[in-house]
Amino acid sequence: MLDQLNHIEQTGLAELATLADPAALDAWKSSYLGNKSPLKAALAGLKDVPKDAKPAVGKRMNEVKQALEAAYESRRSALGAGGGAAAGPRLDMTEPGLLESHALGRRHIIMRVRAELVEVFARMGFEVAQGPELEDDEHNFIKLNIPPEHPAREPIDNFYVDNPGAVGQPRMMRSQTSTVQIRVMEDAVAKGWGPPIKIVSPGRVYRPDTVDATHSFMFHQIEGLYIDRAVTMADLKTTLFQFARAYFGKDAEIRLRPSFFPFTEPSAEFDMKIKLRPDEPARWVELGGCGMVDPAVLTGCGIDPEVWTGFAFGFGIERIAMGRYGIPDIRMLFENDVRFLEQL
Ligand code: DAH
Repeated sequence: MLDQLNHIEQTGLAELATLADPAALDAWKSSYLGNKSPLKAALAGLKDVPKDAKPAVGKRMNEVKQALEAAYESRRSALGAGGGAAAGPRLDMTEPGLLESHALGRRHIIMRVRAELVEVFARMGFEVAQGPELEDDEHNFIKLNIPPEHPAREPIDNFYVDNPGAVGQPRMMRSQTSTVQIRVMEDAVAKGWGPPIKIVSPGRVYRPDTVDATHSFMFHQIEGLYIDRAVTMADLKTTLFQFARAYFGKDAEIRLRPSFFPFTEPSAEFDMKIKLRPDEPARWVELGGCGMVDPAVLTGCGIDPEVWTGFAFGFGIERIAMGRYGIPDIRMLFENDVRFLEQL
């Protein structure tokens, strides 16, 4: 009898180890632990075992039954069979999800270029300053040395809001980020943290321009201002050249053209050779203006022009983005056509 039990245990365990699917596992269970199993037959035969051998045989029977049951359970969980053949499909937690229906968003190209420009200037030691988009006369014009009769102040060239004439009151959507130069200089003097001053200020500006391939009624500029002892035009040119190489690559070509702005003297226009369409040769595109800060502007902000000098610049961010990424029409940047935005 004991030999028979050993045999059942050995063949049962050996067979179990070869099984690989839940259905085979079920079949094994009924043939080794079911009602018609040899183990059940042996159990029924226990009554015929001589009385003095009964305890040992009964004990061994229990051991074999428990060993087979335990082996069955561990095999079943190793196969991940759940409830055997009746269980539903297996759940694989490591499978990738269905991503198609959840397309990832991204930053708009203008916001990205803006961050890239700030990054390039930050490497040259410029900090970021911000100013309001709703501005007053004083910061948009007066302190930038733009007198009351200047044509730049014409209503046709500016978005005025109601509240005309009240100095120091919000009056208009700013037409240039040069307003931030004034705010930063005033702040530096009032709080005593500068000069030296070295900032860039990216932001939106508003002008009632007719929309075409290179103009929009709202666009972005990045303004720069550097004031220190003995800053010269050579520093300005070096900074712009370094910027162009850092952002557009080492072959970037730039040029300064003499120009006029009321708040700089001398003033220049900053052009770069840019390819807007792949099938056209690169051509000179005006990116913005620059120059040495006019002594009258420094004085107006409480900075002594005999001690401090500085340069300033203001570029159109859309123009830079168009040049950097080969975008032929500024309107593409505002239409929010997903097919366009997804390419950038
Ligand atoms: N504010 C000028 C514009 O919007 C650009 C500009 C020119 C900015 C000269 C400057 C500068 O800082 O020095 O056309």
